[in-house]
Amino acid sequence: MNRIETITSQCEDADLARLLRAAGRAALTGGSIIRQLYGKPHNIEMKGAINLVTEADLASETAIVASLNEDLPGIAIMAEESAGDSPSQPEGRSWIIDPLDGTTNFAHGFPFFAVSIALVEDAVPLAGVVYCPMQDELFCACRGRGAWLNSDRISVTATRFPVEALVATGFPYDIHARLDTVLRQLRSVLPKVRDIRRAGAAAIDLAYVASGRLDGFWEMDLKPWDTAAGWLLVEEAGGRVSDFAGNPYSAFRPEILASNSVLHEQLIDMLT
Ligand code: IPD
Ligand code: CA
Ligand code: CA
Repeated sequence: MNRIETITSQCEDADLARLLRAAGRAALTGGSIIRQLYGKPHNIEMKGAINLVTEADLASETAIVASLNEDLPGIAIMAEESAGDSPSQPEGRSWIIDPLDGTTNFAHGFPFFAVSIALVEDAVPLAGVVYCPMQDELFCACRGRGAWLNSDRISVTATRFPVEALVATGFPYDIHARLDTVLRQLRSVLPKVRDIRRAGAAAIDLAYVASGRLDGFWEMDLKPWDTAAGWLLVEEAGGRVSDFAGNPYSAFRPEILASNSVLHEQLIDMLT
């Protein structure tokens, strides 16, 4: 049995299994295109001063959309490279796709990037996958059924003390407008934790919280395609996701704080 079949057989819900199967196939398809283009010369365009788009983002998105439409036609699609800058919250069911999360890493040959696909219903994720093509790691989650890395179930850490925690963050593209807040948060968190990572792909940061490689993650100014799948991964792995003040999370609001849940209140205190 391949890993997607192993996971969907544990889903025990035919509808969720169907969604996860389609998302998994599309993510592997996009990821394989990205892997083939990695290390070759890139066609880079600028979406902003430091915000890149490459031929791989576009090719991955085209292939993912085609795969989803082939498997489950008729579901609305919000995909980063065709969605515009201020997407509104969709009603009913919709795929939310980041065809290449970590484009800056990809363009520089730093092998930490992913495909992220979530199926949301009235903005609540039901199924989510994050696929890291260079590591061939497929993270999956189904609402109410759990989270997996490849064929194995995953869960968040039990870390209780910040001094034992490895946490991650990311920096917004609009860094000039946000520099004071970013530096204030780093000054507050850095002396209290074991260390901080800024690896450059928010979807993977969330998948790593879900799988216990990180104890927490926060970032501002993210988009729904950065977080929709990872949000579900963290919650289904036993973690907590909120805004910086502890309010319920929405992928259509810009702040995210994800943790193993035990550390959540302490991280809120550090960030606010
Ligand atoms: C970016 C990455 C990065 C985060 C940025 C995102 P992209 O996504 O997730 O880690 O710091 O805020 O926009 O542009 O590579 O898809
Ligand atoms: Ca992204
Ligand atoms: Ca992207």
